[in-house]
Amino acid sequence: MAEGKLAFVTGAAGGMGRAAVARLVKDGYRIAAMDRDQKGLAEVAREHGKAVVAYPCDQTDEKAARAAVGEAIAKQGPIDAFVNLTGWAGTTRFFEETSDYWRKVIGINLESLFFVAQPILLDMIERKRGKMVFVASDAGRVGTSGEAVYAATKGGVIAFGKSLARENARHNIHVNVVCPGPTETPLLKAEMEENPDLIQRMTRIIPFRRLGQPDDMAGVIAFLCSPDSDYMTGQTVSVSGGLTMV
Ligand SMILES: NC(=O)c1ccc[n+]([C@@H]2O[C@H](COP(=O)([O-])OP(=O)(O)OC[C@H]3O[C@@H](n4cnc5c(N)ncnc54)[C@H](O)[C@@H]3O)[C@@H](O)[C@H]2O)c1
Repeated sequence: MAEGKLAFVTGAAGGMGRAAVARLVKDGYRIAAMDRDQKGLAEVAREHGKAVVAYPCDQTDEKAARAAVGEAIAKQGPIDAFVNLTGWAGTTRFFEETSDYWRKVIGINLESLFFVAQPILLDMIERKRGKMVFVASDAGRVGTSGEAVYAATKGGVIAFGKSLARENARHNIHVNVVCPGPTETPLLKAEMEENPDLIQRMTRIIPFRRLGQPDDMAGVIAFLCSPDSDYMTGQTVSVSGGLTMV
């Protein structure tokens, strides 16, 4: 149990975010929850009562994102675990993509991580402890057609996580990356509507023959926040029913 520890969770109103918040609350954490979806975030806060404080914020807005981290530390105290779940992608062919689309995906999936990870890291360095878990994607390890820039950003998140892990092990800060496979959340549902055949084909090649569920990810995230993973850092863990074995 993590009685009283504080976890800062971004993308907290999303499919995996809600499952991660629920699991961490069950494990005894208090939560600072960030998302741009104000309504969804209010639902999460209502569901968990005093355990969750909501910080509605567009994470691509540097000033707002840094201010939200500062406010969380001032209100709730030092952050013990940071879980970044914010992410977005469409499904397009590379030859159709525009630079605006590229900048949008890079802004949400990669650049916004900088705005939140940096102030949290500085706070953790002061206290010489902390756990960081970045949610990337198997697209960043093996590529996915229709998701070139998404895969590029997720590969970036993996490399970023490893670099932070190397740089900050001396401060007793652990940084690991979770790579979900296709998981039934609003993000995937949007893709399913666009391309139902792709999802059916994908399910057939998953060794466990089913899509991931948000709780499949939440358990691994909770493990990487817990003392059970104290001898792990810089690792990339695929949680994909065996779809990727790298
Ligand atoms: N669902 C999948 O199949 C799958 C597979 C691999 C990786 N992932 C990754 O897992 C993470 C969680 O995804 P999910 O499936 O729960 O998606 P989701 O769409 O349900 O949740 C993502 C959350 O991020 C929030 N968000 C997006 N842009 C934001 C911004 N600029 N500022 C603040 N909040 C923002 C959204 O409001 C949403 O609540 C993402 O990083 C995603 O890329 C998902």
